[in-house]
Amino acid sequence: MKKDIVSILDLTESEFHQVIDLAVRLKEQRASGQNHALEQRYTLGMIFEKASTRTRISFEVGMFELGGYALFLNPNDMQLGRGEIIEDTAKVLSRYLSAVMIRSKGHDTVTQLAMHASIPVINGLSDLEHPCQILADVMTMKEKFGTLEGLQVAWVGDGNNVCNSLILASALAGYSIRIATPDGFAPDQSVLFMADEIGAPYTLCKTPADAVRGADVVYTDTWVSMGDEEEKGKRLRAFEGYCVDEALVSLASERAIVMHCLPAHRGEEITPGVIDGKQSVVWDQAENRLHAQKALLSLLLER
Ligand code: CP
Ligand code: NVA
Repeated sequence: MKKDIVSILDLTESEFHQVIDLAVRLKEQRASGQNHALEQRYTLGMIFEKASTRTRISFEVGMFELGGYALFLNPNDMQLGRGEIIEDTAKVLSRYLSAVMIRSKGHDTVTQLAMHASIPVINGLSDLEHPCQILADVMTMKEKFGTLEGLQVAWVGDGNNVCNSLILASALAGYSIRIATPDGFAPDQSVLFMADEIGAPYTLCKTPADAVRGADVVYTDTWVSMGDEEEKGKRLRAFEGYCVDEALVSLASERAIVMHCLPAHRGEEITPGVIDGKQSVVWDQAENRLHAQKALLSLLLER
């Protein structure tokens, strides 16, 4: 049976840790010049309905390093852009490819693709979740602290796709998470419902300071995600007071790291001093996308 990663919760707790641990090993192997080729020459289709730097390049390079091949698929150049339905696209892609990754405007498109494809479908970001990002983030936390158990993560800013996956992953990883978002920008209700169902250790806070005080990880993301551009003015006003600046970070634990999935907007959700400062781990996070996705592809393609 093929396995899809539409949500981070599509991984069991054991698979989640298996991916993180394999990613750490693959990173070490790569640094020592060893290559980890898979048993076959697999192919990955990558459909991007939205822009990408990290996701596209890390998947493409990752497939190459695994001995396979990745194809960049712009929906506007496919019949999908002219109205061919996702169900038919899924069936056809399944005849050519070993797996498909999709970055989609609507989460439903990812779900539909997964439902109709007979090959693994990976969510490379939707409006609801960003599971591949969270694998790299958790790998980075483990690298920095040696363990995930007992870590306190603080999310400050928009309760968006990255935040949603980070909340759900807390049920698998072992950290607790406190979330501070302005009114009207809380994490998705369906995500909080699921988080309650599975006992994810999350707390919604009233202020950024409440979330960050004593935290080991301070995480933020853009206030204007892809697709939110029309609301930019309203959002910039709503998020006043939610900037991750030096004063806010000083409330965190002395050993705290600062995370951002990138792309960043210096002077909006984070100050230049913080993102370029000594507590920032954003470049390691970005690099770890490569290792985490190679580990995920290994799990999905060689089950
Ligand atoms: N963090 C992330 O997914 O970056 P891209 O949008 O550049 O892929
Ligand atoms: N929340 C951001 C993440 C980008 C990687 C967005 O959806 O645009």
